[in-house]
Amino acid sequence: MEFSRPKCSPWRELVLVTSLLACGIFQSSGQLSIVPFIGLEGYRSFLDLENIPEDAQEYSWHRGVSDSERNMIVSYRPPSNSWQSGPMFSGRENVTKEGRLNIKNSMLNDTGNYTVRVDVSSGTHRATSWLEIREEESDPGISTNTTSVVEYMDSVAAFCHTNATTIRWYVSGIQVSSNDLMTISPDGKTLIMLKVGRYDVILRCALENILGYLQKSEQIFLTVAYGPDNVRLRSDPSVFNGILSAELGSKVEMKCTSTAFPEPKYRWIHNGSLLSISEGNITLPSLTWEQMGRYRCIVENPVAQLTMYRDIQIQRKTGYIPIGEIDFYISGSLVVFLIVMTVLGGVYLCGILVYLMINHFSTRTNRAI
Ligand SMILES: *[C@@H]1O[C@H](CO)[C@@H](O)[C@H](O)[C@H]1NC(C)=O
Ligand SMILES: *[C@@H]1O[C@H](CO)[C@@H](O)[C@H](O)[C@H]1NC(C)=O
Ligand SMILES: *[C@@H]1O[C@H](CO)[C@@H](O)[C@H](O)[C@H]1NC(C)=O
Ligand SMILES: *[C@@H]1O[C@H](CO)[C@@H](O)[C@H](O)[C@H]1NC(C)=O
Ligand SMILES: *[C@@H]1O[C@H](CO)[C@@H](O)[C@H](O)[C@H]1NC(C)=O
Ligand SMILES: *[C@@H]1O[C@H](CO)[C@@H](O)[C@H](O)[C@H]1NC(C)=O
Repeated sequence: MEFSRPKCSPWRELVLVTSLLACGIFQSSGQLSIVPFIGLEGYRSFLDLENIPEDAQEYSWHRGVSDSERNMIVSYRPPSNSWQSGPMFSGRENVTKEGRLNIKNSMLNDTGNYTVRVDVSSGTHRATSWLEIREEESDPGISTNTTSVVEYMDSVAAFCHTNATTIRWYVSGIQVSSNDLMTISPDGKTLIMLKVGRYDVILRCALENILGYLQKSEQIFLTVAYGPDNVRLRSDPSVFNGILSAELGSKVEMKCTSTAFPEPKYRWIHNGSLLSISEGNITLPSLTWEQMGRYRCIVENPVAQLTMYRDIQIQRKTGYIPIGEIDFYISGSLVVFLIVMTVLGGVYLCGILVYLMINHFSTRTNRAI
């Protein structure tokens, strides 16, 4: 059982204070009475007085509807500050200086009528009330329709098994109410988590009993599969703009990591071929020409059915090589183009020359004729 402060207690105090105030104002007209109380087996019960007369000489509490001596439980005399127990005293009762009857460790058979007699110098006041002690509600049970979910994909329905009407739900220790991620049924007994986050792992319900104490269920632990969130890469030498530049014969290390649950699977692809490495790290002890090129690190969470990857290009360190190759390629084609153009242009020019010469000579020949 819980020993947190009962929620109804401040309310009860308030009732008491208000009634005492009322008592002060309507002293003469107010009649002594006992505040009815419903208690729980095993807990403390109280019978408070309302409209207490001034200058009380003795408060005496009795079982039943009469204030006979043989029914007396316990009495208190304010003038001598002394207590006296009676035949019905069980060892669990006492009267406070305000006349309240306290019963520790209430039992079901404490249920019944109680009568208080308050003696004042001018006479005697009596009041009778009914005290009811109920069996404590058993702690609620809890169950869910599943305990394994994928983050933000699956829904979970949780059920609180109790006959109580005031039910609270806790997700990872925090009390929850209906919101856009979860709904609680009108009777409070079902919690549906529409989307489950990776930190929403502990479910618990609690009932609030009539004394305001919380009685909590066991905890249910969800297994939430999540990630990979992203692929992080650490390498030696380090990568800049997706490019890892290294000398031939040097050592290259690459390591992919990722946040995921369960532990994700790693795969590596080099220039389109799957490598036989199933770890996040790859070590090339002495870089060769064949080991250059494009690497892809693939991180897969088979439970969440989510895969992410990251690409790295390994190149020779000396920067002019690729640029030189590109320059050569361009100038080579230009040369070819120029050669072709020169040849074509030359052929054209020769053609014109030959034509002009033939024309010239034939003209001269014509004139000569
Ligand atoms: C009631 O409580 C007072 C202390 O608060 C104690 O002195 C007294 O003996 C108690 N009376 C009985 C009958 O247990
Ligand atoms: C109440 O029950 C307890 C045992 O459960 C017993 O010892 C006690 O005498 C009973 N009291 C009355 C008033 O019947
Ligand atoms: C308690 O008191 C009420 C009214 O005074 C009476 O009707 C009832 O029978 C009593 N109950 C018991 C169990 O004595
Ligand atoms: C559990 O209940 C939720 C909400 O009703 C439902 O969406 C989900 O499919 C259920 N899961 C299983 C495994 O039955
Ligand atoms: C709810 O009450 C019924 C009948 O009163 C009982 O059979 C059942 O066991 C109770 N359930 C719980 C969880 O206490
Ligand atoms: C990955 O790292 C571990 C320890 O750091 C090492 O034992 C293992 O050989 C490495 N695997 C590869 C493929 O480099």
